[in-house]
Amino acid sequence: MNKAIRQAVIAGNWKMNKTRPEARALISELIPLVKDANCGVVICVPFTNLETALDATKGTNIKVGAENCHWAKSGAFTGEISAEMLAEMGVEYVVIGHSERRQYFGETDATVNQRVRAALDSGLKVILCVGELLEQREAGITEEIVGMQTKAALGGVFAGELKNIILAYEPVWAIGTGKTATAEQANEVNHYIRTVVAKLYGAPAADAMTIQYGGSMNAKNADELLAQPDVDGGLIGGASLKAADFAVIVGAASR
Ligand code: 13P
Repeated sequence: MNKAIRQAVIAGNWKMNKTRPEARALISELIPLVKDANCGVVICVPFTNLETALDATKGTNIKVGAENCHWAKSGAFTGEISAEMLAEMGVEYVVIGHSERRQYFGETDATVNQRVRAALDSGLKVILCVGELLEQREAGITEEIVGMQTKAALGGVFAGELKNIILAYEPVWAIGTGKTATAEQANEVNHYIRTVVAKLYGAPAADAMTIQYGGSMNAKNADELLAQPDVDGGLIGGASLKAADFAVIVGAASR
C-alpha cells in the first residue's frame, strides 16, 4: 500500500452554515492561506452558497462541492436538487451519504447508492461518507457496518469510475463532539475500507483510492491523523468554518 501514489484531499463540509456575504468573506480569507497547497482543497457549501463560492474561487486552487444531491434528473421532488443541476453550475464535487443525512433525513444505503450513480452520471466527483455509530463500535461491529455501507454505496460503480470517488470514514461518535478517533483507530478503519475496495476492484484500484478521515479533525490533531499510512486527507466540519484552522489542516496534508 503506497500512500505516495494517492492525492491527499482536504475538504471542508460547511453543513448548514454561512450566509452568502459570510461565505464570500470566509473564502476571501482562505484563498491566500491555501494557495500553495500540495494537496486537493475542496469546500462543500450549502446550495445557496454555490454560486457565490464558484465565483469567489475562480482562478484559485479551491474546488467547490455541494453537500448532497438527488438521484433523479428532474421531477416532482420538492426541496431536492439534482446532480445535473449542480454539474451545470460548474460544481465539481458532492458529498453523499453523510451521517447527518442518514440520521436525520432517512438516507439509506440504497438511496446513497442511487445518489452516487446519479452524481457519477452527471460528471460530478463524489465524497462518499461511511461510518459507525457509537453503539456499533461498542458492539464490535465497526468493520461490518463500514464494509456494508461501502459495498452498498459502490453497487454498480465500474472500476473506471473510482477515480471520481473519494471515500470518507467518519465515525458518527466523533462528528461535532470534539471526540476524535485516535490516529490508530482512524488508520485501522481506513485500512479496512481499502481492503473492501481491493476485494471489489483489485489491489491497484484500492491503492489509488483517496480515503479521508472525518470527525473533529482540527488544527491541533491534523498532523497526527494525516501522517497515518491509510489516511489520505480529511473531511472537516467545524474547523472548515475558520480560515486559519482550515489552512493549518491543508498545510498538514501538504507535507
Ligand atoms: P466535525 O469536523 O465538525 O466533527 O464534522 C465532521 C464532519 O461531519 C465532516 O463531514
